[in-house]
Amino acid sequence: MDRLVIEGGKRLAGSIQVSGAKNAALPILIATLLTDEPCVVENCPTGLRDIRTTVRLLESLGKKVTVDGAAVRVESTGSLKTQAPYDIVQQMRASVLAAGPLLARFGLVRVPIPGGCAIGLRPIDIHLKGFEAMGARRIADQGDIIMSAPRLTAGVLRLRFPSVGATENLMMAAAATPGRTTIKNAAREPEIEDLGRFLSKLGAKVSGAGSATVVVEGKVKLSGARHKVVADRIEAGTFLIATAAARGKVRVLGAEAAHLEAVIAALRKAGAKIGSGRGWIEISMDRRPKPVAVKTAPHPGFPTDLQAPWMALMTLATGFTKVRETVFENRFMHAAELARMGAQIAVSGSAAVVAGVEQLSGAPSMASDLRAGAALLIAALAAKGRTTIQRVYHIDRGYEAVERKLARVGARVERVK
Ligand code: EPZ
Repeated sequence: MDRLVIEGGKRLAGSIQVSGAKNAALPILIATLLTDEPCVVENCPTGLRDIRTTVRLLESLGKKVTVDGAAVRVESTGSLKTQAPYDIVQQMRASVLAAGPLLARFGLVRVPIPGGCAIGLRPIDIHLKGFEAMGARRIADQGDIIMSAPRLTAGVLRLRFPSVGATENLMMAAAATPGRTTIKNAAREPEIEDLGRFLSKLGAKVSGAGSATVVVEGKVKLSGARHKVVADRIEAGTFLIATAAARGKVRVLGAEAAHLEAVIAALRKAGAKIGSGRGWIEISMDRRPKPVAVKTAPHPGFPTDLQAPWMALMTLATGFTKVRETVFENRFMHAAELARMGAQIAVSGSAAVVAGVEQLSGAPSMASDLRAGAALLIAALAAKGRTTIQRVYHIDRGYEAVERKLARVGARVERVK
C-alpha cells in the first residue's frame, strides 16, 4: 500500500542509470527452461516485482534459482513440471511464455489462460495458432489450455500481428525443435533481439531477430549460458520524457539511442536538445514543449509503453496534440487522473486530444497500471505543489527504485510505506 509523494517544480540535473530491461529479462529467464545446464542472467532488474514472480514461476516448475544482486543463476534439480500454476499466471501474464519451452521439450504443457488486464483483453490466439502450425493439439479444460505434441515440427509460421509475446514463445519452441523454423511478420523489438542472442548462446542458430523474419534452427539438447540483459529502453524513455516535462539537463546512462529513435525524434520536435553516444543519451530542455502528435505502433514505431508518459508531457505543450493508441484497446486510463492535476484531455475511442496548459497542479492520484503510473509521476514532477500517487505496486512492476533514481537528479520524491 506504499504511496509516492512528489514535490513538483524542481529542475532535473545530473545522470541516472537505467536497469536491465524487464521485457527482455522475463523471456530470457523463462528460456532457461530449454536446458538442464546452469545459466547465469546478468544485469537483471531483480528489484522488480515481475522478476521476483518469474523466479517463483521457475521454482514452481522445478528449477533452483539463486539471486545475487543483478545476477540470477538458474540450475536444474532433475525433472521439470509441465504445468504453470494459476496464482502465478494470474499475477503475471508473461508466465504464458513457459508454454513454448515446455511443449517443445516434453511434448505437453498446461497453462492457465491469462485473464485480461487494465489495458486490454490481451488474448493469446497468435501464440496458440503458432504452436498448432508446429503440430501441437490443443484442448481447453477448466480455464487452462493443454497443448500436446509427440514432437513439434519445424516449418514456416506467419503471424497475423507482430505480437511480442507470440514471437518470443515460438522462437523458444523452435530453439528446442530440430530443423529450420521461419517466423514471418515477427515482432522486431530490441528485447526480441536480446532473446535471440541468448538462444544462440544456448546452441540454437538464430538469424533475423529484430527483423520481420526470424529463422531458428533448433536442436533437442541445448547447453547453458551466461548473458547480460540489454538496457531498459522504456525506463530510459521515461526518464528522458520526465526531464522534458520538469525541464533540466540529464544524462541517461546505459541507454541505447538506436532503441529509441521514434521517441528521440518526437522529443527533438518538441524542442528538446538530445545528444547520445555508446551507452548514454543526454537531454536538455528549458521551455514548454511544442505539441507533437504520436501514433503508437510495433517497433520501430512509437512504443505503446511510452504513450502514457508522452501524453503527460503533452499536457504542458503550447497547443493541441493528438495521441493515437493502435496496439492496446484500453490504454488511456491515465487521462482521467491527469485531468485531476489540471490537464485538458478528450478521449474518443483509440484517440485522445490534449489541449496543453501552462501549469499543472499537484493532487492525490492513483496508478491504474504500470505506464499510467509513470505518466502520473512525470506530471507530478512538473506540477506546482504536492502530488501523492497510490497503488505504487503498479510502478514497482517495471521501475526499479524509481524514487531513489529520480532523487539523484534532484527530484523531490519520497516513498511512504
Ligand atoms: C509485450 O506484451 C510487453 N510485455 C508489453 O509491455 C508491451 O506493451 C507489448 O509487448 C507491446 O510492445 C512484455 O514484454 C512482458 P503483444 P505482449 O503480444 O507480448 C494483441 C509493459 O508496460 N494480441 O505484442 O503481451 C494484444 O491483445 C508491458 O511493460 C492478440 O490479439 O504484447 C495487443 O493488443 C505492457 N493475440 C497486441 O496484440 C495474441 O495472441 C500486442 O500484444 C497476442 C497479442
